[in-house]
Amino acid sequence: MSSSKPIGFLDSGIGGISVIRKAVRLLPNEDYFFFSDSVNNPYGDKCDEEIISRCDELTDLMVNKKSCKAIVLACNTASAKAVSFLREKYTDTPIIAIEPAYKMVHDYNPDGFTLVMATRGTLESEKFHKLFYTYYNNNTSLLACVGLADLIEQEKKEELREYLERNLHDYKGKVSNVVLGCTHYPLAKAEIKEVLGDVNFFDGADGVSRQLKRVLTEKDLLNNKKDKFTIEFVDSSETPEQQEQKKKRFFDLLRED
Ligand code: DGL
Repeated sequence: MSSSKPIGFLDSGIGGISVIRKAVRLLPNEDYFFFSDSVNNPYGDKCDEEIISRCDELTDLMVNKKSCKAIVLACNTASAKAVSFLREKYTDTPIIAIEPAYKMVHDYNPDGFTLVMATRGTLESEKFHKLFYTYYNNNTSLLACVGLADLIEQEKKEELREYLERNLHDYKGKVSNVVLGCTHYPLAKAEIKEVLGDVNFFDGADGVSRQLKRVLTEKDLLNNKKDKFTIEFVDSSETPEQQEQKKKRFFDLLRED
């Protein structure tokens, strides 16, 4: 058995590109549907109920209208807040959820000073607390980057640089590992390096892509078509011009790494 149905991806905007671009390399013969919920960006400061309700609406769209065979929550905040609810409700559809790659630090460089950057929503979540205390290395700082995903989403380059200089200044020269615990942050790696220098970056995109492949293989849901992948991209911005702009940026970023 195989399945020609698409795989649904969801993020509060363009950030999930850092995940889907890894997935298409690992699973190049699949069809994808990506929902960029930029009208509701940022998720990071919203209350649990709001995030759960929005993720429910979007998962319903992907499962029941777009017939997605699996859902990837390409947003750490949505994963932290909504994955349990979604898994309980959509029992027939595998839901794969990203989380900050703190375990990777434990596996690869546990002794280095580690800075975990994520939204406040992710860092305050029960799901993250469990992960953090399981792999705690006695040498980690957590930094809630309020407003950072918005600057990346809106491509405010100058403000982004100022934000990072202001918020990362105290960590200069001290950090070996940086966990990019929000899917928007890999888009600002170069700017983070400008402040922190040559650090090791960790993010959950590869892990989630491997998990997606594992789940589809186990459930016999891989697409056996020979053609290259396709992506249907939908953005929730208010105007068609803004939606077009997001789409262009998404496909430009898909070609980069
Ligand atoms: N990209 C999302 C994440 O991974 C969140 C950005 C936001 O606050 O909307 O957490």
